[in-house]
Amino acid sequence: MPAAGLDLIADIRALKKERNAVILAHNYQIKEIQEVADFVGDSLGLSYKAAATDAQVIAFCGVHFMAETAKIINPSKTVILPDLEAGCSLADSCPGPELEAYLKAHADKNYYVIAYINCSAAVKALSDVICTSGNAVKIVNASPKDRNLLFVPDENLGTWVMEQTGRPMELWKGHCHVHVEFTARSIEKMREQHPGALVVAHPECRPAVRLLADEVCSTEKMIAYCREHPASTFIIVTEEGMLHRLRRELPGKTFLPGPTGECACAECRFMKLNTLEKLQRCLQTLQPEILLPEPLRIRAELPIRRMLEWSK
Ligand code: 13P
Ligand code: SF4
Repeated sequence: MPAAGLDLIADIRALKKERNAVILAHNYQIKEIQEVADFVGDSLGLSYKAAATDAQVIAFCGVHFMAETAKIINPSKTVILPDLEAGCSLADSCPGPELEAYLKAHADKNYYVIAYINCSAAVKALSDVICTSGNAVKIVNASPKDRNLLFVPDENLGTWVMEQTGRPMELWKGHCHVHVEFTARSIEKMREQHPGALVVAHPECRPAVRLLADEVCSTEKMIAYCREHPASTFIIVTEEGMLHRLRRELPGKTFLPGPTGECACAECRFMKLNTLEKLQRCLQTLQPEILLPEPLRIRAELPIRRMLEWSK
């Protein structure tokens, strides 16, 4: 790495100390951010870390809903996100006012709303419990048996959870722009080229892709699955940042990116907005900061706390 890169990393480390900050990074962040972070993980692991930290500043290298979740459970801390434009196409597919209108129009159903964590604070505030891909099966199994379940916003994850739990749910028709790019044909072709490799897919993929996988799981569970499985080569059907984490933790194994219909791998354009330079700047200025109106924060906190309690 050039000297400037080393200076940048040294400066980020020094700023982190000075600010009493913790750097949390999602598995889809660029390699350099994963390497400078205090903790790299999936949405569930990051939520637990955010809940447990005693740092005064949380520098969240992920997307907006993740940093917002950290702020909801840490109102007295400063939560910063290197690039405020780091949104999420899945979260955007379920705007709060649309969900509110839907719940009003179907008040007779008395829905129990289970929201995937990839949603805004406004959607969380309308929900009964939150889940991540790592605990969705557990959370749905623990949800009241005598209520109609409405699962928002990811249709593909919801379909997978229904199959796993046998619990009927109504599903919001939202999708992640990254995971729907994988096609059954692109994965079949990859399998033909690498006959011994196992396919590991994220549950946000379409059912036709997921059905071709040897394992379907959250990004964190991919690490455990690949570590424990005796196979040596894996095709990873999720955002390409996951490959850095896998290659770093399991250097003796081979990880190949799952190809989409168009490209050799899939990238989340929002996750990739964060850079080391932006992380440095946000630690210097403590901007952009995540701020929320207190009544909204309070309403959004309850279903997150319920999730953290139920998935212990
Ligand atoms: P994980 O919860 O598996 O980390 O997934 C988050 C995400 O954004 C998937 O697209
Ligand atoms: Fe959202 Fe998809 Fe990016 Fe995950 S990969 S943050 S679900 S847009």
